[in-house]
Amino acid sequence: EKGGYKHFMLKEIFEQPRAVRDTITGRLLEEQGDVFLEDMKLADEELKSVDRVCIVACGTSWHSGLVGKFLIEEMCRIPTEVDIASEFRYRNPVITDKTLLVLISQSGETADTLAALREGKSRGAKNVAICNVVDSSIARESNGVIYTHAGPEIGVASTKAFVTQLVALYLFAIRFGQARGTIDIDRGRKMIADLVHSPSLVEDALKLDPQVEKVARTYMTARDFLYLGRGTSYPIALEGALKLKEISYIHAEGYPAGEMKHGPIALIDENMPVVVLVPKDRHYEKVVSNMEEVIARGGRVIAICTEGDEEVRAKAEVTLEIPPVPEDLLPLVLSVPLQLLAYHVAVLKGTDVDQPRNLAKSVTVE
Ligand code: F6R
Repeated sequence: EKGGYKHFMLKEIFEQPRAVRDTITGRLLEEQGDVFLEDMKLADEELKSVDRVCIVACGTSWHSGLVGKFLIEEMCRIPTEVDIASEFRYRNPVITDKTLLVLISQSGETADTLAALREGKSRGAKNVAICNVVDSSIARESNGVIYTHAGPEIGVASTKAFVTQLVALYLFAIRFGQARGTIDIDRGRKMIADLVHSPSLVEDALKLDPQVEKVARTYMTARDFLYLGRGTSYPIALEGALKLKEISYIHAEGYPAGEMKHGPIALIDENMPVVVLVPKDRHYEKVVSNMEEVIARGGRVIAICTEGDEEVRAKAEVTLEIPPVPEDLLPLVLSVPLQLLAYHVAVLKGTDVDQPRNLAKSVTVE
């Protein structure tokens, strides 16, 4: 059942190229630079009338929502908020019939996310769910759904569901941008071409596995970890830290790299491994200087960077290098070494990777 892998989590990490492919298959209209989302049930007219998007989710799904905000604001030019469901539902949020609520849930059964959907619906919000489980409560109660095709996720720590949520958000942003006229055919075609290429980029990132295992051996005894990133790499830093906490029980925090000097830099000493997400993107120079600040205070930098980056190689204690990737797809690819790092640290520490203590696969009570 684990297909020869030692744990479901590892199997699910390695299934990601397939999961990504299944999530895009049958949905791309390559000629038109558009996508087809069979169950979304939002007509162009409705999409055009939206003036604000609220993404609501918990945990890992909330992290994919934070990436979604970048995609939607960039491609659709609509203000987008991302809320934790347990906060949203008790806050008297501003919702009108022009609000589009996007619920993200792997299981489709998370109590707070379901309650947020009901709350939004009762106030007249348009809504769509991104779910992995067909006919789950959230999928049934929402007006429309964009299914991720990750297949059943058994490991409690979410991996392939997360990556396919990113793909679903990407597809949604293309459709939404096309409906609103904020992206044109050429841009849509380029994005689709990138997506078609994405399973093989994820496949390439998986080749880092033996190297990641070595890094895990070096740093597994640390008491705390910091994860830093800017832009879409910031939510990926949060997700990397969550994975490590959940399965290895090591305290870890994700931070926007630019926030370092507003507090967390006080934590840096020679015992603190700092995972810095520093791919070649629009934030590169700034993140390199944040990395230098960490190094100057004795922090031990594990840099996730773009293949062949000599500058980062010369500065960091160790690098894990991903293939060059179009900027929009970076979150997909950067997630892979972080998942593997959490996995290997947990295995080396001997914790229960697939069933971490105190955690349930789906949180159906508040
Ligand atoms: C983390 C994890 C949880 C879930 C959260 C939401 O690895 O699995 O943080 O992401 O409980 O679950 P869903 O997506 O099923 O609503």
